[in-house]
Amino acid sequence: MRIAFLDSGLGGLTVLKEAMDRLPHERFVYFADTLHVPYGTKPKEEVKQYIFRAVETLLAYDIKALVIACNTATSIAVEDLRAAYGFPIVGMEPAVKPAVAKAASAHKRVLVTATPLTLREAKFQELVAKVDEEHLVDSLPLPELVQFCEELQFDDEVILPYLEQKLAPYDMRQYGSLVLGCTHFPFYREHFRKLIPGHVEVMDGSFGTIKRLQQVLGEAGAIKERGESELIWVTSGGKPEEARSLEKAFHFLQTK
Ligand code: DGL
Repeated sequence: MRIAFLDSGLGGLTVLKEAMDRLPHERFVYFADTLHVPYGTKPKEEVKQYIFRAVETLLAYDIKALVIACNTATSIAVEDLRAAYGFPIVGMEPAVKPAVAKAASAHKRVLVTATPLTLREAKFQELVAKVDEEHLVDSLPLPELVQFCEELQFDDEVILPYLEQKLAPYDMRQYGSLVLGCTHFPFYREHFRKLIPGHVEVMDGSFGTIKRLQQVLGEAGAIKERGESELIWVTSGGKPEEARSLEKAFHFLQTK
């Protein structure tokens, strides 16, 4: 049986990489919704339909667990998906809690970056309300970064001026942590690093999500302990160049 990963596009690869490092004998299927990417700038109900369609497609791949490797999809659909399907479903959420804990102890602020849809969802607002008693959290939508990633655009000359302009209103010396609350954004970790002071911790949710996946599979006695790992690409557009693009982006991640 396989572990399924689902994202609007290339972003979930940052989570898949963590999973393949930590679960080296598993069979994986990665779904990119190439027909509908990006999710983060579309209306919630529309995106929810795409997500359910994607999961229906994944059912054909004999799956034992699903990782929603997308903060946006998790925030709008994880509860409904869990109610609809019997297999374990692990989602993602912006790492606000550890970021606040870290920043507060140093009397600093937290900047959460994500898609516009994630940031305006109740799930995110509730998470912040729960952990941010001192009102330390600011949020910054970066939808263009998703587009750049989908175009495999990683050039400093393009990305640095874009991020510089977006970060300009924030005095980053006042911040203790920067949250990458969209799975596309860890592709740009080094770009962020070049623009922010060394003391600012850059956090994403991949590690926590995969730890949770290991725990869930472990409890079900469903971890594959030996044998070759396997990875297949599935895209909603179904074009060979889409799979090639996934391959290329994954290779980029593995070599950087
Ligand atoms: N990778 C996604 C996330 O984590 C969604 C990006 C998008 O499609 O807008 O939020």
